[in-house]
Amino acid sequence: MTALELVVTALDDPVPGVRSVTFAAADGSEVLPTYVPGSHLVVDCGGRTNAYSLTGDAVCPPTYSISVLRLDDGAGGSRWIHDELSVGDVVEARLPRSAFAPASKATRHLLVAGGIGVTPILSHVRAADQWGRDVQVLYAHREGRGAHVAELRELAGDRLELYTDQAGFVARLEEVLAAQPLGTHLYVCGPTAMMDHVLARAAELGWPPSRLHSERFGIDVLDPGEPFTVTVAESGTTLDVPSGTSLLEALLEAGHDIPNLCRQGVCGECRVPVVGGRPLHRDLFLTEDEKEAADVLMCCVSRADGPTLEVSLR
Ligand code: FES
Repeated sequence: MTALELVVTALDDPVPGVRSVTFAAADGSEVLPTYVPGSHLVVDCGGRTNAYSLTGDAVCPPTYSISVLRLDDGAGGSRWIHDELSVGDVVEARLPRSAFAPASKATRHLLVAGGIGVTPILSHVRAADQWGRDVQVLYAHREGRGAHVAELRELAGDRLELYTDQAGFVARLEEVLAAQPLGTHLYVCGPTAMMDHVLARAAELGWPPSRLHSERFGIDVLDPGEPFTVTVAESGTTLDVPSGTSLLEALLEAGHDIPNLCRQGVCGECRVPVVGGRPLHRDLFLTEDEKEAADVLMCCVSRADGPTLEVSLR
């Protein structure tokens, strides 16, 4: 996959615990590749690969911007960005990748953000402003910890609603989910519990799955998953994949040579074709269309949606 060399041109802490980083092309190019709103940038964070949503202009951008919440109990990528990264440093990244794009057929976009989940939502709002799309934004955050509020206010005006109390947010969410015209698509990004609530209520209120879009932060939030068996098509060998063991680990353990890098579902290295059964996608790499096609999965985080799966390792 194409790699980018990026140089850090600015660092900022917009609210406590969040560091915003601006990158430019390390080779001096004035424009970086255009990306789809809601895309993430996979950054090599001192040997660990992490994905962060891009928050700036998506079309012919001179710079890329990300905002990173410091997670003291995380895997280390956010601490590296907060503590180690300096202006002038050069980092390696992959081309931006979209797993949370605005639906082209939507007539209205309802955007729901929680905490640092505001980052891909900001990208959507920026594009909506640019293209004259109809948006409504609900942003729940802790008091004094609302990153990017001023930019959102400037872009969305009174279509932005801010909530620092859970009860107020939940009550308003009910009203908003119940009142959306046909053709509205819902996008949600935030803490797992909040996302699960928003998506469950939308489903209960009759929103079809095709109009629900969500972006999860990464595998930190993934559960150990259900056990299943995997069959390797070429040999007919069947392996058990217990709960808490990834498909990648099971295949490596059995002696299969599977390329892998991040083991977080963000880099795209461990892609494996699926030839039987249905995958349960849990990665941030494949697009929605690729996930729906169900003929490939990222085996470091994704599993079987059922008791069995058959993969090709040719
Ligand atoms: S190893 Fe990076 S997506 Fe699986």
